[in-house]
Order: sequence, then structure tokens, then C-alpha cells
Amino acid sequence: MPEVLVDGLETVWQHLRVVRPTALGREWHVAKVVQPERMRTGPAALAVAWRMPVQHSWPCAPRGMEGFIERAAQALWKKFGPLDPQAVLMGPLDSGSRDPFFKGLASNLRGRTLQLFGARPAADAESQDPEKPTLYCMVGPTGLFAGMISPREANGFYPGGTKFIRQEGEETISRAGAKIAEALHWLRLYRPALRSASHWLELGASPGGMTSELLRRKYRVIAVDRAPLDPRLRGTPGLRFYLQDTRTWNAPSGTALDAILCDMNGPAEESLQAVLRQLPVLKKGGLVIFTVKTAGVFSVADSAVLIERLHHLVQAVGLGQVAVTHLTYNRREFTAVWEKV
Ligand SMILES: C[S@@+](CC[C@H](N)C(=O)[O-])C[C@H]1O[C@@H](n2cnc3c(N)ncnc32)[C@H](O)[C@@H]1O
Repeated sequence: MPEVLVDGLETVWQHLRVVRPTALGREWHVAKVVQPERMRTGPAALAVAWRMPVQHSWPCAPRGMEGFIERAAQALWKKFGPLDPQAVLMGPLDSGSRDPFFKGLASNLRGRTLQLFGARPAADAESQDPEKPTLYCMVGPTGLFAGMISPREANGFYPGGTKFIRQEGEETISRAGAKIAEALHWLRLYRPALRSASHWLELGASPGGMTSELLRRKYRVIAVDRAPLDPRLRGTPGLRFYLQDTRTWNAPSGTALDAILCDMNGPAEESLQAVLRQLPVLKKGGLVIFTVKTAGVFSVADSAVLIERLHHLVQAVGLGQVAVTHLTYNRREFTAVWEKV
């Protein structure tokens, strides 16, 4: 569970009917969940960034333990070999740690385990089928935890959920760029990536971190904001910018969009209204990617109520829910995706 939502943990445990969870690391907990379907709806689903059934655990202190890798690999092979996972992926329990030990251990353990399993249909996280079960294994100072689940059910392709996305660098225009990069990657759990030259509208695009990520993927972008874009974006092929208020801006005639992106600040319902104004120019099957800002909403439970309200609003105008989550690069905000049905 994301550290930034930690004050909502109690609500999550209540919702999951979990009495005594065990903390495994900063963002990891192991809990006996009697009704796992409760992890899919409401506050719990929102706060659970990535989930894995613990079908095999070895509570131990791997650092300095003689023969850890061999024993762990043999146990994984014995238990999961007959289940034929599409991929074998391993990661450190505390991915943010500066200590490289467990990252190295995970990598070495994966190497030895794959020798036993043989080549898998998906050689790495990126080539997985989102719907087929993968063997995930997490290692850390508290031991080894493993289980099989599909990337979609787990809510991410990587052990721990997300891939590392660089936030800094000369070409980075704003932190928001990492958010859309992560959102597009996460969305592959549900549908293939949009083809290049797809037509996007970004509402509230300034200074342009997200827009620059879309342009980098060779998408065409109409960007609207009452504040200017970063001058580095000037003249980028595929970009049209309107220095205007989204509440009064109208798409040029003939516009047909594949996707609308909205990362506007301000009350979520107001931002959503600006998106809904543009629905007539969104193609059937087109996507809406919407950052749900939660200023003034103080708990995960209240965020869930807000998101439920937004779902009702969009449903009434012909949008269906694809998914909603808290991404690693989100702060106290969520990413919702809908599609025009
Ligand atoms: C969080 S920033 C967006 C960051 C941007 N997505 C990026 O990638 O750099 C929110 C933006 O929403 C814009 N905004 C909020 N309300 C607006 C409105 N009614 N019309 C136009 N822009 C608006 C603000 O000017 C601000 O630039």
C-alpha cells in the first residue's frame, strides 16, 4: 500500500475485515483476507497498489544465510513448477531502499529458479499476457513471499507493481510526465497501447510534462491551459496549443479524438465537467484518463465516495469504467480511466 495513503490504512483493514495484519516493509503488509473480492471494490481497492496471494512463504533472514538461493529456488520449483507460470519475476520487498542487497538477491534467485523452470513464454515483465498467471516472488529482510496471479489481477506487470520511470533529467518538463508514462504502462493491463498518431486532447496541460510524454510517443496533441506551455515544446510536430480556459474552449470543427487526458487542479467534479463538454468529439471506444484530485478530501474512504460520484456522472453520459488506481507517481490523487461506449 502506498506510503502516501498510510493514514487510510485502518479504513482499509476494516473494509477487508482484517484484524491483525503484519507489516513486512514500508509499503508491504501480509494479511489474511477472508473475502478477497473486497480487494476489488471501495476504499481497499483504491489503497491497494499491488496484490499477490501468498501461496508460499519462508519467514527468515536471508542476508548471510548459507544456501538461501538454492533452497528457495528448489522450493519454488517444487511448488509452482507443475503450474506452468507464463513468467517468473522477482523483486525486493522494499524497492525504495538504498541497500542494493535484496535487489541483487532477487535477481540471483530469479536466475537460479529459471534454470529449474526452463525458458518461460514471457521472458520479462514487458512481454507478459496481462491475463495469464505469473509466478511473483518478493524477498526482503523478513524472508520470501511468493504466489501466482495474473498481472491484471495483481494490478501491475512488475513484482511490486510498477516499473521505474525516471522523473528527473534535462528533458523533463514537469513531474506529471512520469504520471502519464506510468498510467499508459498500467493501462496495458486492460488494452493494447494506442497506435502512434492517435489524437489526444489534454485539458490543463501547462507546463507540459504529460503533453511532452504523449508527443514523445508520436501522438498528436491538442493542449489547453490558461497558463502557457514550457517554451521547449514550441514548434513540436503534432502539437497544437490553446491558451484558454477549458470551461469555454471549444474543439476546432472536425476534431475526432482517440483520448482525452485531464490533470487539472481544482474540484474534481468541476474538472470532470470540462471533460464532459468535449465528449461529442471523442470517438466511440475513445479513452478518458482523469487524475482525480482529492484536495479537501482527507481519507481514502472519502476518496472512494468521491470516485463513486464521478463514476455515476460519467455513466449517465455514456462512459464505461475501465479501471481506477493509485499510481506510484500519484500523490494524494488517483487515476481513473473510462471509455466511450
Ligand atoms: C497540475 S497542473 C497540470 C500539469 C500538467 N498536466 C503537466 O503535465 O505539466 C494543473 C493545470 O490545470 C490548469 N487549469 C486549472 N483549471 C483550468 C481551467 N479552468 N482552464 C484552463 N486551465 C486550467 C492550471 O492552469 C494548471 O496549469
